[in-house]
Amino acid sequence: MQNYIGTATSRVDGRAKVTGAAKYAGEFNTNGLAYGSVVTSRIAKGRIARIDASEALRVQGVLDVLTHENRPRMAGTDDAYKDDVAPEGSPFRPLYDDMIRFSGQPIALVVAQEAEIARFAASLVRVEYDAEAHVTDLYRQRDAAFALETPANPIEAMFTPPRARGAGEKTFAAAKVRHEGEYHVPIEHHNPMEMYASTVMWDGDGKLTVYDKTQGVQNVQRYLCGVFDLKPDDVRVMSPFVGGGFGSGLRPQFQVVLAVLAARALERSVRVVLTRQQMYALGYRPAMIQRIGLGATADGMLDTIAHEAVTGTSQYENFYRQETGWSGLLYKCANAKYTHKLARLDLATPCDMRAPSATTAVYALESAMDELAVALALDPLELRLRCYSDRDQNTDRPYSSKSLRDCYRQGADAFGWHKRNPEPRSMRDGSELVGWGMATGIWEALQAPIAVRIVLSANGHAEVSCATSDIGTGTYTIMTQVAADMLGLPLESVSIKLGDSTLPQSPVEGGSWIAASVSNGIATTSGAVREELLRLAKQMPNSPLADATPDEVALVDSKLVSKRDQSRAVSIVDAMRHGGVDRIEQEKSTSFPDDGSHAHNTHSAIFAEVKVDEELGVIRVTRVVNAVAAGRILNAKTARSQIMGGVVWGIGMALHEETLLDHRFGRIMNANIAEYHVPVNADVHDIEVIFVDEPDAMVNPLGVKGVGEIGIVGTAAAIANAIYHATGKRVRDLPITLDKLQR
Ligand code: MOS
Repeated sequence: MQNYIGTATSRVDGRAKVTGAAKYAGEFNTNGLAYGSVVTSRIAKGRIARIDASEALRVQGVLDVLTHENRPRMAGTDDAYKDDVAPEGSPFRPLYDDMIRFSGQPIALVVAQEAEIARFAASLVRVEYDAEAHVTDLYRQRDAAFALETPANPIEAMFTPPRARGAGEKTFAAAKVRHEGEYHVPIEHHNPMEMYASTVMWDGDGKLTVYDKTQGVQNVQRYLCGVFDLKPDDVRVMSPFVGGGFGSGLRPQFQVVLAVLAARALERSVRVVLTRQQMYALGYRPAMIQRIGLGATADGMLDTIAHEAVTGTSQYENFYRQETGWSGLLYKCANAKYTHKLARLDLATPCDMRAPSATTAVYALESAMDELAVALALDPLELRLRCYSDRDQNTDRPYSSKSLRDCYRQGADAFGWHKRNPEPRSMRDGSELVGWGMATGIWEALQAPIAVRIVLSANGHAEVSCATSDIGTGTYTIMTQVAADMLGLPLESVSIKLGDSTLPQSPVEGGSWIAASVSNGIATTSGAVREELLRLAKQMPNSPLADATPDEVALVDSKLVSKRDQSRAVSIVDAMRHGGVDRIEQEKSTSFPDDGSHAHNTHSAIFAEVKVDEELGVIRVTRVVNAVAAGRILNAKTARSQIMGGVVWGIGMALHEETLLDHRFGRIMNANIAEYHVPVNADVHDIEVIFVDEPDAMVNPLGVKGVGEIGIVGTAAAIANAIYHATGKRVRDLPITLDKLQR
């Protein structure tokens, strides 16, 4: 029964959030809490020659200064530092030794009675370095980049380039119509609102409760056990609320290590909150250079796709994602060739950032498709329709569902695309040039094994728990909706516990996989609760459900009801009372077996309008329609918010966001949100979100695909294409700032 699934239910935690009752990692208090402030490296590469904390230690209220020289013992193997989502390589170890691997690396922690004292004293720690030559510029390392290998089995090409197909790139030169271009994306940062923070409660006897800003409490818990050789029972990690993640909290961040180090050194509770500047040192989307070559027949059928990417990683880990494969996946095309090279830089390891790789790869591909449409003198939407593919082209499999055609149609209708004059600079609004552009988006419909516990009380209240995070996406709310429907209870009778490492197993919240995973997980456990209730109901004298099987009953309106005859019903409360039980507790794991026969993806069609001041070059994104096919939508309101947020990110990517380094120092120069520009309200105008119908009985029992990431994919390309249409000028270098338009 579905009273709640799919509806625009407001966030169940909304009130707690707006009133401040919801507590974040840096807000938990306890007696005797000490505060840590981080000292970071001023050089990008070399060694610490001398570190002198004497002046800092003389400040009244300073408790200790921890460095690699005096820190408590930490593990000495790479394995101990590998978290659940670590890439290959040797993970960074905070305060481990005198090596400097990147500018902004933590090198000391000043711990004091007050946060302000710690921060002041941190400025007094004197450090001398033996600096070595560094390289932080991707363009300088481009030729030294090494190619990632292509696995023989296409299904294994998760992050590595897929195999070439057909004649690869050989057909390109002979193609009737060709486009080739190089597209540039700078380093970008997530900039979640909540700072990276950890509050470590010293519970005595070495036991710790860690409130951490993370997308995965169990990942952090396992990691801390590895780094500090702790027993699982000795460390509990909690994260009841998260102020934005976007990938920045998938891996444990260094402040949690520093806070635990200090708590163990001082045997007291410690909080470490990074400054916004310090947050920039770790975790970013790498810069990338992408070359796309597209060959087509004269009537607009693609026949060659070549995609080469060069991305940056650190000196100590190989971070890369599926940068090239999206190109060949999306459109029908017999020949394709992919190359991905990785360049080592003296920076921290990059990390996942909202729809990692699809966001950047699809920007390049969909810009190139627009350029090909121009070369073909074909409407850009028409080109996409001519190349439409019902099969995943890389693995040659059908999709479990793909309603992209409906996205194109409904999006174009809502936008009024058919009124577009194809000629660049042909549309105007006063002194502004008007441009309309479009692009396709694609992401994966992922899911991962998860466990859910439900405790149903005889008073008709259910508590549903799982260790997943809610990174702000609305997980509390969709869990409440799904559980209420599955258990036949009103929303108010369901409460959720999450973000606690002691709760049933969950993967990190990322990849847009939690909505699908946890909703189906709740369905599984609810089934077990229902069976238990049926067992009790059958024991009642003259039970109306005496001969019913589990499949024949549903929970509706706080009753167990025969699906064949609604008049045969037993109330939940009666069944439990009669059975003499005051609670039913079930915990079940759910996995998602996949025979590999079908591809699972979400899709979207984005239409953007820009207005460009002809004299000044100022660009405004005045209208975006994003039509999304993402299976069943669990909550019309929170899902829409996710897509809107993704579109806002796409506006930022197209027009604003860029992490700037001074390569002479290997240092980020705009590590603050005054100089790193993210869209503000004045940059965001009309955004219309459309969810097209996409039933999918194959992807998982509830047909859920997830919406956290698809909203950004393609958006920057749609805007870049609209800017070309408005101005006749093609900028292939993000962000598209007004100086680039004037050049
Ligand atoms: Mo997402 S980039 O997997 O948080």
